[in-house]
Amino acid sequence: MGNIIAICNQKGGVAKTTTAFNLGAALALNKGKKVLLIDADPQANLSEYLRFEEDPLPTLSYLIADVAQNTLISAETVGRCIRHHKMTGLYYIPAAIDLANAETIMATALSRETILKRILMPEITKDFDYILIDCLPSLGSLLINALTAADNMIIPVQTQKFSIDGLNALYSLYLQIRSTINPALHLTGILATMADHTVVTRTALQTLSADYGEVLFRTVIHKSVDAAKSSESGIALCTYRNRLGEEYIALADELDALLVQQQELKLSPVGTN
Ligand SMILES: Nc1ncnc2c1ncn2[C@@H]1O[C@H](COP(=O)(O)OP(=O)(O)O)[C@@H](O)[C@H]1O
Ligand SMILES: [Mg+2]
Repeated sequence: MGNIIAICNQKGGVAKTTTAFNLGAALALNKGKKVLLIDADPQANLSEYLRFEEDPLPTLSYLIADVAQNTLISAETVGRCIRHHKMTGLYYIPAAIDLANAETIMATALSRETILKRILMPEITKDFDYILIDCLPSLGSLLINALTAADNMIIPVQTQKFSIDGLNALYSLYLQIRSTINPALHLTGILATMADHTVVTRTALQTLSADYGEVLFRTVIHKSVDAAKSSESGIALCTYRNRLGEEYIALADELDALLVQQQELKLSPVGTN
């Protein structure tokens, strides 16, 4: 069964989308994994990164509207929404601007937190090693849906004081979701991003290490213009032998090892998740 990972932070500009694409690409290209990306942000930046061009097939909004009306959705319908990105071998379900209406559509739906979970049904996820959900910068229904569908979450945090301040709100939402709708949710890691050689970065890394040390990824993503170049060109960072590329490959290795360990703990008789 695929590992479903929500990449989230209610703050924009912390490298969620850059991480979804480049972590996904590193998992696919360097580790040979089959990866499905879900663009769950109405701004559709991930779809742009993947050079998605409108086609006759439905996007994520259609699936959400369908499930919200309590239509029993089939794996075939979801499967038809999955596109293939030839350059990286990634699979993805794109978003379009009409995803902004999803919150309204969901508002009156029964069991509205589980809509994305019902879309990412086992018949779909079993075909992938990883499913990465690129979340929108908000703590609303779409994010709650992503955290209900996921079994793991990654929180990219820009190494600046104000970015770290916002972490507490997301961490309490994580605890609430874990204690109610999704006890299987696991905070896999906080990912320090856009680090540089300033005192601000050093202080932020120290704070993150003191407050969240146990779940802080060892891999740190540094600030580099190569990130912008990659999103402009649509070429995955891991295909270059530059620092950012190496860091995303290291992150893919670290994540994969962590999830193998998590799986072993689940299977062991004394394992406690
Ligand atoms: N490591 C990095 N170094 C420098 N700029 C980065 C880095 N990662 C992302 N960026 C840039 O920061 C901006 C926001 O990144 P993005 O991934 O879209 O964030 P989010 O999805 O959290 O809003 C983009 O312009 C992106 O190119
Ligand atoms: Mg984004």
